[in-house]
Amino acid sequence: MTEIRRGTLHTETFYERVGGEPTFRKLVKRFYQGVADDPLLRPMYPEEDLGPAEERFTLFLMQYWGGPRTYSDNRGHPRLRMRHAPFTVDRAAHDAWLRHMRDAIDTLGLAQEDEAELWRYMQYAAGSMINTPG
Ligand code: HEM
Repeated sequence: MTEIRRGTLHTETFYERVGGEPTFRKLVKRFYQGVADDPLLRPMYPEEDLGPAEERFTLFLMQYWGGPRTYSDNRGHPRLRMRHAPFTVDRAAHDAWLRHMRDAIDTLGLAQEDEAELWRYMQYAAGSMINTPG
């Protein structure tokens, strides 16, 4: 019997493997629930309604992990460090941000390797967003 092995015709992306759009929607929704109640982070978000920020972050992550490129269609090149320049991202903001992210990742029930990969990325990305000492 001729078997078509996984990877021969199509390499599954991380985006697909973890469940696609619903997984990223769930992750970011939960993350922003944490932000909404956070006394340090909430005042940093310029808009009263966190919905549009939630949508931007969701679309960014979907694109980053191999899903549709809607983020860049709408927003152009991510240039995340530049986009965070108006905000004071110091160690305390970094720690609070990652705490909510960890909490949100924990609700997804991902396979251990996928969870570890996502968490490593978030830690690295959050570290690279720090723009203020202290
Ligand atoms: C380290 C702590 C961080 C803080 C305090 C922070 C804070 C913020 C704030 C206040 C905004 C503006 C909200 C909006 O209007 O969209 C924003 C936007 C955004 N953040 Fe962060 N952020 C952090 C880390 C990260 C990381 C690690 C990522 C990526 C993995 C990220 C991805 C984004 C994206 C995609 C946007 C929207 C950019 C756009 O305008 O298109 N942020 N962030």
